[in-house]
Amino acid sequence: MSGYVVVGSQWGDEGKGKIVDLLTERVDIVARYGGGPNAGHTICVGDRRFALHHIPSGILRENVLCVIGNGAVVEPGSLIKEIDDLREAGVRVEENLRISDRAHVILPYHRGRDIAREEAVGDGKIGTTRLGVGPAYESKAGRYGLRVADLRDAAGLRAKIDALALQTRDAGGVRLAPEWDPSPEAIAGRYLEWGARLTPFIADTSRLLNERLDHGAVVLCEGAQGTMLDLDHGTYPYVTSSSSTAGGACTGLGLSPIRFDGVIGVLKAYSTRVGGGPFPTEQDNETGRRIRERGREFGSTTGRPRRCGWFDALVARYSVMINQIECAALTLFDVLDDFDEIPVCVAYEHQGRRVEFLPADPVVLDACRPVYEVLPGWKSVTAGARRLEELPGRARDYVRRLETLIGCEIGIISTSPQRDGTIVRPEGRIERWLPVRQSAGAPSR
Ligand code: IMO
Ligand code: MG
Repeated sequence: MSGYVVVGSQWGDEGKGKIVDLLTERVDIVARYGGGPNAGHTICVGDRRFALHHIPSGILRENVLCVIGNGAVVEPGSLIKEIDDLREAGVRVEENLRISDRAHVILPYHRGRDIAREEAVGDGKIGTTRLGVGPAYESKAGRYGLRVADLRDAAGLRAKIDALALQTRDAGGVRLAPEWDPSPEAIAGRYLEWGARLTPFIADTSRLLNERLDHGAVVLCEGAQGTMLDLDHGTYPYVTSSSSTAGGACTGLGLSPIRFDGVIGVLKAYSTRVGGGPFPTEQDNETGRRIRERGREFGSTTGRPRRCGWFDALVARYSVMINQIECAALTLFDVLDDFDEIPVCVAYEHQGRRVEFLPADPVVLDACRPVYEVLPGWKSVTAGARRLEELPGRARDYVRRLETLIGCEIGIISTSPQRDGTIVRPEGRIERWLPVRQSAGAPSR
């Protein structure tokens, strides 16, 4: 066994990158199992900030292997740029990154289709990242997708791109903008070049991971997006096009469910959402603006201001159930330092009835009004705290109340974007599951 999953437990942007980076010193391999450039994970090391999109957040530690699994989709141009930027910053990418030959590839037609469809709808836009991620997964499910392995098939690539272009150019009767509709010939040339650049990184990563697990390696599977954006379990249709829940780690990496020992869910101490779709605790007002400012809630992929609101215990409880989360990481805790009162949503009210469980229908969810329990704020600085005892009593009460409401231990509390602004509770599951290694950073390879 020895597989662990870190999963987003709200609508993405929960601070998964920081938690994965933090836990990386306790593991041998970090593997991304879904999503693509739509993910944005910002990690701060000292005064340097790294914005990662495709590459797992484990890449900043030496001697840890990072894998982009078959369940992910990659846009080779921006992936190569990410590799180059990291290399320039002195990060060991060549030795430490492997990309699945089975992962699917995003082409300009996918982006064009994503953009054209978003522009064509008026109200009810999904608000995608417009990077072609959804259409690339459509191609995969439609069985005309292009895989990373195809980028090395000089003889067959052109025909595959022709077939894909034929299927993808039609975006429900909307024409693609010319910049996203280049000739298949030009694309084949460019993608072959990119394939050559990526060759040293391409591998059968399912085999690699299974063999390493057989030999005792500890693998941390990094989820992108979040449970409420999962194609099956999220607020459909306002979701992404892949399986971002813990189950996605099995199919997205080629690992059996019996390989896993535990799931760590990442939750913000409040809630945010980017793009369209229901969000019951949204504060589209001064409070929301304060949260946004304090939490610097602007998308790291698109720069869009995030919608902000209070913690929703129904969402968290649902996520705990779907993913079987036994340890939660509560992030951006210090953002709440300044509030007099902190409401937490403990139920919804729908047409005069109390709702205790997340409804499937987005129309119903949109009509739900949150029922709040108002907790007193702690009104003092928690930023940078490293032990639970350093938190003021009311802050500890907030953590304890959330634990009760979501039915799960909160084993990690992040109190600043920096690596050391973190409380890892010594009596919690993390120390049992992933003890810090004596020879930290030098695991067996
Ligand atoms: P990380 O990994 C937040 C959202 C988009 C949109 C919906 C569909 O940083 O948490 P897509 O481009 O995936 O087809 O868009 O999903 N979305 C995210 N929101 N964080 C993300 O990733 C997201 N990835 C996609 O805003 O609502
Ligand atoms: Mg994001």
